[in-house]
Amino acid sequence: MKQIIVFSDIHLNSATDETLEKSSQKLEKAIAHLQSNHNDFDTLVFTGDLANSGKTDEYKALRNLVSVINKPIKFMLGNHDNRENFLDIFPGYEPDHNGFLQSNESYEYFELIFLDTLKDPYDDIPISCGYLCQKRLEWLGEKLEEAANKKVILFMHHPAFTTGMQAMDRLRLKNSHDFFSSIESFHNVHHLVSGHIHRNISGLYEGYNFSTFKSVNQQMVLKFKADRVEYASGEKSGYGIILLDGKNYTIHNEEVY
Ligand SMILES: [Fe+2]
Ligand SMILES: [Fe+2]
Repeated sequence: MKQIIVFSDIHLNSATDETLEKSSQKLEKAIAHLQSNHNDFDTLVFTGDLANSGKTDEYKALRNLVSVINKPIKFMLGNHDNRENFLDIFPGYEPDHNGFLQSNESYEYFELIFLDTLKDPYDDIPISCGYLCQKRLEWLGEKLEEAANKKVILFMHHPAFTTGMQAMDRLRLKNSHDFFSSIESFHNVHHLVSGHIHRNISGLYEGYNFSTFKSVNQQMVLKFKADRVEYASGEKSGYGIILLDGKNYTIHNEEVY
């Protein structure tokens, strides 16, 4: 059995000392919870929105906070991140041959693929939305072909699916149509995992199962028709756990107390 932990949207925020302290404490608390309750995990995935303003000092804070973890960590980027600043602070983190932060991890029956949906350098994509350019989609096609005999779980910060929360559905992957057309000829994609939504949600979209998880930092208010995104102060934070058990998998939602 393999345990993949999913920490979503930690948003380390150095706007003021107080916000940095608050967001750092949330991550520290989640790491402590993970270490006391599920310390036999195999990989910890951060699904993006690591640094609230993409600033170097926010990535430095992240580097310090995760230094207590001696297991493999997979960092992904979200719309709040800055690819260059991230790579300055985490130089050991190799981007793909086009400079995007995409990678894959192989298990006996499963392949985990991590995509970079940060819109940069495409300035014409609306702010906060995600984008997968042709180069990234081609890279994905190559990886899906290599994993022809595996069941693939695809991780991307921006969902390609809708959730029914209108304000967030507008800020999803801008070219989700291109994404779905580029994966449809492969029949090995089983599950889509996204960050960005700051809530536990699961469903089926265009034939693919999907999950999003609570944020380690702040949760979004569940309002389907709201025009603007709102955060809920009272909800507990949480993280996801994916158990790979032979050819089967189970997805859990853990809460941080
Ligand atoms: Fe976020
Ligand atoms: Fe986001």
